[in-house]
Parts: sequence; C-alpha cells; structure tokens
Amino acid sequence: MIDYAAEIKELKQKKNAVFLAHNYQMEEVQLIADYLGDSLELSRMAQKADKDIIVFAGVKFMAETAKILYPGKKVLLPRLDAGCPMADMISVDELQALKDAHKNAKVVTYINSSVEIKAMSDACCTSSNAVRVVKNIEAEEVIFVPDRNLGSYVQRMVPEKKLILFEGYCFVHNRIKREEIEEMKKMFPDAPVIVHPEVRSEIIDMADEVLSTSGMLQYATQSDAKRFIVATEQGLIDRMKRENPGKEFYPALRPKICVNMKRTSLRDVYDSLNEEKYEIHVEPEIAQRAVKALNEMLKYI
Ligand code: 13P
Ligand code: SF4
Repeated sequence: MIDYAAEIKELKQKKNAVFLAHNYQMEEVQLIADYLGDSLELSRMAQKADKDIIVFAGVKFMAETAKILYPGKKVLLPRLDAGCPMADMISVDELQALKDAHKNAKVVTYINSSVEIKAMSDACCTSSNAVRVVKNIEAEEVIFVPDRNLGSYVQRMVPEKKLILFEGYCFVHNRIKREEIEEMKKMFPDAPVIVHPEVRSEIIDMADEVLSTSGMLQYATQSDAKRFIVATEQGLIDRMKRENPGKEFYPALRPKICVNMKRTSLRDVYDSLNEEKYEIHVEPEIAQRAVKALNEMLKYI
C-alpha cells in the first residue's frame, strides 16, 4: 500500500511546494497540511510560505484567491469538483443590477465568490474581517454579496450603515435550526454556543460568540469552559477535539458536512503534486481588477 503522507512529503521537498488546507478538510488531509486555517489565514500563508507551488486543499474560490494574490506561483487544486455552491449563487448581471440601482453604494464581496464578482467589487472580506471591512469602507450604503446571513450579521454590528443584501447562503450553515441548538442547550446548559456567521439570524441570537473557523478554535482553546456547542461544519469540530483533548465539543445535534470540502483525499493531494494538476488560471484582466478588492481585504488582518 502506498504511504501517501510520506510520498507527499517527499514530493513537496522535490518540487518546492507548500500544502495548505482549510479547517473543514478531512482529518487525514488536515494532519499533513503545512498550514491549516480559515480563509483569511490561508490567503496570507500562500505568501509567507515562499514556495514555487501551492497545493490547496479547500474549495475552488480559495485556490483562485491564492492565484490572484500571488500570480507568480503555480496554484494547484487537487479536485476540480470541489466548489462552493454559495460562490456561484450570484451572477455578474445580478450584481450589475444592484450596482445600477444603488449608484452611491460600494460593493463588499465575501471571499466565497467567483473571480468575476470579485473584479466588480470595491473590497472583499472573509468571515473574520467582514465587520471591519464594512465599518471602514468609505460609503454609507454598502452592497454586500453573496451571503445574506453574513450580511445581516454585519448589518447588526454596523448599524450606522445601510447594507443592501443578496439572497445567497451556505447550504451547510443555513440548515442549522433553532430547535437543534435548544436541544443541545438542554443537554449542556453550561456550554457556550459558538457559531459561524454564515448561520441564520435566529442562531446568531442564541450565540455566545460569532467567529470565523479559526476564531472559534482560538476562542475554545483560550476559554475556561470545558464543553462547547459549535454551530459549524464538522471538520473544524474534529480539529477542536484533536487540539484540545481535555475539552468536549458538540455539533448542533448532528454533524453538518460540506461535501465539497470533503472531496479531497490524500490520494488526490498526491496525484495533484505528482502530475501538477489541476492548475488554476485566472484571466489577467479580471485578476488585475480582483486583486484590488482582495488587497483591501488584506488591510484588516
Ligand atoms: P472561514 O473563513 O471562517 O474559514 O469560512 C470559510 C467557509 O467556507 C465557511 O463556510
Ligand atoms: Fe461553501 Fe458552505 Fe462549504 Fe463553506 S461550508 S465551502 S460556504 S458550501
């Protein structure tokens, strides 16, 4: 049997490559990543690592972001079918219609979006800096796309601005129900409820903390609490358990899984490095416009 972890290690050295993985990846993938993190951390790690090749175990928009930010590097996505459905929910025409209807508004786009939508935006943001990006952008009206849940959370935190929202959502987080959290709270009344801002407003209402994936991990590690109810994808909960052996972590009743994040196996990572596939390309004219919005995002780290 092939020892993929050992083979990947050898190939990384031979090809001067770095292996980045998102917090929602399968455990076998998380365990051998050079850097494991949330979207914002991974956008920056690609640069810090200073390698010729970036292998990105995540979803397509993450690899595209790395390519736009670091065009001189070869960026590989092990599975071309690892997409984020939310990123494809808004079209160029729909965003243009919003811009036409709100001429004085600036556009803040969640990083979970296509390159074309990023290229039409004034700034991008991730779950960890969305509030700060919107607060600081020079406009009273902000078109926020594509996630309506993250957008309405930002609106709550930035009441002085008017946000115009789109109807996009994450099918994993949007599925989490109020009754599930209530059930968990009955079982573990002392456990803080920590949630990702892609959940619906009624879940935000019940949260003790609203944080990005890495923000949740950091909070749990530093907190004195011994058990936590965690409303997000299961991959992060697995990481929390692994890195905090004395503490307990529970999902919102049943594990929530992002099938796209789970597509990448160790074998896929090995094939990706070995055959240098699938290389991500972004049309230079689009990349040139999108990088401005991404650089705005990187001001708030
Ligand atoms: P983070 O940036 O918080 O890791 O979130 C990415 C994501 O896709 C959440 O569903
Ligand atoms: Fe997209 Fe949701 Fe999966 Fe994150 S968890 S990659 S937002 S579908």
